[in-house]
Amino acid sequence: MKHTDIKKLFAEAEAFVNKSVTVCGWVRTARDSKTVAFVELNDGTCLRNLQLVFDKEKTDAEALKNAMAVGSSLKAEGVLVASDRNGYEMNVETLEVLGVCPSDYPLQKKRHTLEYLRTIPHLRVRARYFEAVFAVRNQLAQSIHHYFSENGYRYVHPPIITGSDCEGAGEMFRVTTHPFATEYKTEEEYYANDFFGRKAGLTVSAQLEGEMAAMGLGRIYTFGPTFRAENSNTTRHVAEFWHVEPEVCFCDIDDIIEIAEDFIKYIVRDVLEKCPEEMEFFNQWVEKGIIEKLQNMLANDFGRIDYTEAIEVLKNCGKEFKYPVEWGVDLQTEHEKYLTDEYFKKPVFVVHYPAAIKSFYMKQNPDGKTVAATDLLVPGIGEIIGCSEREADYDKLVAAMKARNMPLENYTEYLDTRKYGSVPHSGFGLGFERVLMYITGVQNIRDVLMFPRTVGSM
Ligand code: 4AD
Repeated sequence: MKHTDIKKLFAEAEAFVNKSVTVCGWVRTARDSKTVAFVELNDGTCLRNLQLVFDKEKTDAEALKNAMAVGSSLKAEGVLVASDRNGYEMNVETLEVLGVCPSDYPLQKKRHTLEYLRTIPHLRVRARYFEAVFAVRNQLAQSIHHYFSENGYRYVHPPIITGSDCEGAGEMFRVTTHPFATEYKTEEEYYANDFFGRKAGLTVSAQLEGEMAAMGLGRIYTFGPTFRAENSNTTRHVAEFWHVEPEVCFCDIDDIIEIAEDFIKYIVRDVLEKCPEEMEFFNQWVEKGIIEKLQNMLANDFGRIDYTEAIEVLKNCGKEFKYPVEWGVDLQTEHEKYLTDEYFKKPVFVVHYPAAIKSFYMKQNPDGKTVAATDLLVPGIGEIIGCSEREADYDKLVAAMKARNMPLENYTEYLDTRKYGSVPHSGFGLGFERVLMYITGVQNIRDVLMFPRTVGSM
């Protein structure tokens, strides 16, 4: 179906003006007067609509009626003309209604609440808000690939079905082909007869496979879906999210912190540059001043604070927290929020957490209490990156796994990386949706995913 994208028409308008062009799209709004009818057409290529102008005398009445129904899909051919109000519009000569939209179309109004739009995920992508979200989402993914490609990382594709639980938090979804009501006496018996002959689940992180890949390829990243069966009904958690996980050999905790900051700044700068129209939309309608906030972030160094010092800051800040602060506790959202929004007023790396609240694979610091791990916290969102230098010493790693009662037999290949030419290495995991929220100002993670999966909702 030969036609020109509306984005191209506006971008190269001088080449198209006063010429005949064909466009396709969906009707966003329509109005008419005695002699003329106006339809705002959007084809998803850009936020702007093209105004179609119909001479009512010359247009078939039935076709025009259908073309004026919000949600209908059209193909229109006509002459692009300059217009004072819209920059350019089209005087339609030939109209074809591709799909008539009945009046029960749920997006009749110009503005709907986000809560309402969440109930129609299959249609909300036709609203401007979501068009902007998914345009930036697309660009952000491209920018991430560009960063790694430009910096010599290999893109690897780890399995989604796996037998190893990277984070050890018991949040794995089980993968099974056993029919409903199959009865087995023991768990072992149950899994022995299952598809893989052992317990399998959906990955919570590609890190362990990523580490193995890096041990031969030097510098890798993964970028794929990750699954967590955590029962957290918050605006920042979903059961299925996209995870960006670089792994870098010959790299310590300070090196990886530098990489993480460089990476975040690169992708934000790239989105600002490539999505000016969408960012202007977010600036105006979603979070006022967000462009300036991001530009400030780009112009300044991120903060950095040791966990131990952060605890002191929180204890002495004079604020009443719901969750009391003591050395050894994990930071709660309210603590993170204080550090980013009030104390640093910019992104901050909290470094060297207590070993007891972090995962087994993190490098144990000489103090015997903390690990070389950091979380990157950003204003408004909290944690977007979980990062660490990995424990490269075989014996220390095994000891940490045993202390957590982990089944070592499931991790023999992983442990081989520490046996056969172990090297200092580090990596991080960036929550793709979390950084997308930070960049767009969208407050609920359900609004940056096409079909969000959350506890109790699919
Ligand atoms: O801090 P996490 O659990 O770290 C890891 O999984 C490491 N293995 C990563 C690595 O070093 N390769 O998760 C990393 C990030 C978090 O900072 C957060 O942004 C995101 O993943 N994340 C979630 N995003 C949405 N919904 C959830 N339920 C998330 N859980 C984690």
